[in-house]
Parts: sequence; C-alpha cells; structure tokens
Amino acid sequence: MKRLTVPAIQRRKGGEPLVMLTAYTARMAQLLDSHCDLLLVGDSLGQVIYGLPSTLAVTLDMMCAHGAAVVRGSYHSVVVIDMPFGSYEASPEAAFAAASRIMAETGAAAVKLEGGEAMAPTIAFLTARGIPVMAHIGLTPQAVNVLGGYGARGRTNAEHAKIIGDARAVAEAGAFAMVVEGVLEPLARTITAEVSCPVIGIGASADCDGQVLVTEDMLGLFDRTARFVKRYDDMAGRISAAVGDYAAEVRARTFPTSEQTYAAKE
Ligand code: KIV
Ligand code: NA
Repeated sequence: MKRLTVPAIQRRKGGEPLVMLTAYTARMAQLLDSHCDLLLVGDSLGQVIYGLPSTLAVTLDMMCAHGAAVVRGSYHSVVVIDMPFGSYEASPEAAFAAASRIMAETGAAAVKLEGGEAMAPTIAFLTARGIPVMAHIGLTPQAVNVLGGYGARGRTNAEHAKIIGDARAVAEAGAFAMVVEGVLEPLARTITAEVSCPVIGIGASADCDGQVLVTEDMLGLFDRTARFVKRYDDMAGRISAAVGDYAAEVRARTFPTSEQTYAAKE
C-alpha cells in the first residue's frame, strides 16, 4: 500500500467519507494505519499523554517527537501534525519557521492550525511555500480562554455567520482540508456544501466529508466524555481487569509459572 497524498485527499471531496483518527505513538500508528486515510498527531496529546489541563502548554518539541514516531509507524495514511499554541499565531513568518521545522523533523505531509479568517493569510503563506495546511474551525480548543469553554459553537446567528466566514476564508486561502469541531448540524451541512475542500467533522454531524475522533476517546481509554464521542470499546475497563489479574497472581505467587521461567541447565 503506497502512502496517500494531500492531493488524493483533496480529490475525495464529496466522495467516500475520509477516515481520520489521532495517533501519538509509533505502535498506535501501526494499528490504525491501514484503516485510516489520515492520522492526526493532535495537540490533544497534552491532555491524553501528558496529563495537562488543556492544549496550551504543548510544545513544538513534543509535536516533533510524537510526529516523527507516528510517521515511522505508518506507511499508508497522510500524517498531519498539529501546530502547538504559540508557534504560529504571531505572523506568517513565525508560522513558517515552526511548520518547516515540523515538516523537516517528522517527515509528515501537512500541518494543522486553529483559526479562521485571522489565520487565512498564514494558510496562504505556508501553502505557497510548500507546506499543506489543514485548517481547524468552530470549537478551537487553543482558544478555550476566549471561548469560555468547550461548548458547541454556532448557537447564535452572529456565531453561525462568523464560522461560515471562517470556513470560506480558510478554503479560499488554500487549506487542503478543514476540521470543523463542535458545531450545530445545519452549520456543518452548510459549510460542507459551500467550500471546495474536504470538511472533516468532529461533533459536527454525519454530513461532513469525513470524521475524526481522538483514538483514546473512541477506545474508552481516556476519562473524558464529550457528547460527540462514541465509545467503540472499554479499554480502560479491560486494562484495569488485566492489571488486577496480574497483581493478584504476583501476590499469590501464581505468576510466573514454569512456562515463563528459564529452567536450570540439564
Ligand atoms: O488535537 C486533536 O486531537 C484535534 C482533533 C480532535 C481534531 O485537533
Ligand atoms: Na488539536
């Protein structure tokens, strides 16, 4: 299986839905790769891997280290790396410096950044210089302190119009795709119909061109529940049960048995 490309993803607009999941490690990337079109090294790793309270303290070093691991662990999916808070907002030039480091150190095919109209010049700047950009609009977690929380967006007419304007602006700036997070269903449908690039939804209804979830959320491995997460497994429960069995057997000296023991020389 040859690795998909950014133009191949763009051509999927309106076609078979795009499948995207987050991955932070080489092993998880290996397990997800053949099922997915895109793997996202999300800055959600701040909460999921590092126990941080939000994505704001995630660093470029973290994104580069995990991004390189995910590229090494995959050979089919397009790998997209989140630009961390503080690394791209100040200017297109600052964004290029950070994004080019991500591309060079990880071997990924694209970066993702949060923001609409305000980030359009940056998206155009990076794209013109060889860095494909996935936009992320609607509920943008790096702006939690401005938004006041992680609630769904697009509930007022003003917010609805603002987010449609954001979608148009990032598409016109050349974003090869966009994540639309946490918006009311009619808004997701309008955006998907209006922009020419694929719209990948998370908490944005089935009307998008694809879906993304945080893998640990959908596996039931992370202790957070958003309405838009469907749990396909209860891995936290299964890990706890397995570790409980191990602990009990160690304490009872029933593990290891002769099967796990190097016998003495004959
Ligand atoms: O960081 C992340 O995991 C994301 C997805 C939820 C879209 O940005
Ligand atoms: Na993110």
